[in-house]
Amino acid sequence: MSWTPYYKGTGVHPTDPAKLPKLPALPPWRAPDPAAGPQEEAGRRTDLATTYRPASGLIDAVNAALHLRRPLLLTGRAGSGKSTVIRQIAAELGLGQVLHWHITSRSTLADALYRYDALGRIHAHNLRTLDDKVRPDGADQEDDIGEFVQLGPLGTALLPGTRPRALLIDEIDKSDLDLPSDLLDVLERGGFEIPELARHPKPDIVVRTADTAGKHTIEHGWIQCSEFPAIVLTSNGERDFPAPFLRRCVRFEMPPLSEEALTDIVAAHLGDIEDNTTATLVQTFLKKLSDGEYVAIDQLLSAIYLLRGDHAPDLDQRQSLEDLLLQGLGRG
Ligand SMILES: Nc1ncnc2c1ncn2[C@@H]1O[C@H](COP(=O)(O)OP(=O)(O)OP(=O)(O)O)[C@@H](O)[C@H]1O
Ligand SMILES: [Mg+2]
Repeated sequence: MSWTPYYKGTGVHPTDPAKLPKLPALPPWRAPDPAAGPQEEAGRRTDLATTYRPASGLIDAVNAALHLRRPLLLTGRAGSGKSTVIRQIAAELGLGQVLHWHITSRSTLADALYRYDALGRIHAHNLRTLDDKVRPDGADQEDDIGEFVQLGPLGTALLPGTRPRALLIDEIDKSDLDLPSDLLDVLERGGFEIPELARHPKPDIVVRTADTAGKHTIEHGWIQCSEFPAIVLTSNGERDFPAPFLRRCVRFEMPPLSEEALTDIVAAHLGDIEDNTTATLVQTFLKKLSDGEYVAIDQLLSAIYLLRGDHAPDLDQRQSLEDLLLQGLGRG
């Protein structure tokens, strides 16, 4: 990687479009959004899956959760690798595309199970009725309720299949108070009803799933998993959870990194680390941690990525970039 000032602060660009600078390739550990298409998802998953280095104790926690078919609740600081581990689990166990439910204060369990677009269906029905006035043969009178039902990530994870699905429920500590208990209720049962389909006269209805372009036939409006999904819940510890919720999860707190573990992670992402810049940045990073200032791994990766190599910036600029990139995230 070479340091290139693409932006110079002039607002002027070359008149010849062929001379416009081409931005550099994405750093290898920077992932596109999980909702990306199937090909992109598959390629990225392989990368993140193989470069992930589980913290000490995490492998046992994952295996305990898999044996017990319980969700794994990971807590820890920002950037400690909580959201990434599920990709490695899914890749290693062949669980397919990871389903991702990102929680906010507005998230509801109902949305994660399925969405029914009643207004869209009424609108489509009205359009068809208008059309029938022009084509009184009554063609296309099929009831299309399935087109207006889409399963969410949790609903899709509970579909029956030959392999369990992998589900990331990210940042559950941002949820509304009742959501964790409601979630466990659904998980205990391993199934749920879609009343709009249960009431419908057709017994089998094809609906869309949360997988890209995925479809599934629902029978009598009821979904029941044949295999409990492998679930990782993540939390930054912004709030406590009720005991009944905690006892149903396998819990693991991401531990602080040793120098050895850190070096291993950097090598996994960026290859050979035998150069001075890398060694100095790793030491600076560890010093900040031992001084009680929290810095995340991907900040270190970013600093090494930009500051090492033949075309690295000169010393002064290097220092100011290092300060920029390794700014602490808080004490403790
Ligand atoms: N143990 C690890 N091995 C390899 N890479 C890691 C590890 N931990 C973190 N990383 C890198 O750090 C980045 C951030 O990790 P991740 O998003 O999983 O952290 P997080 O704990 O979910 O953070 P946040 O709480 O901010 O969501 C990842 O892209 C990953 O490449
Ligand atoms: Mg995360």
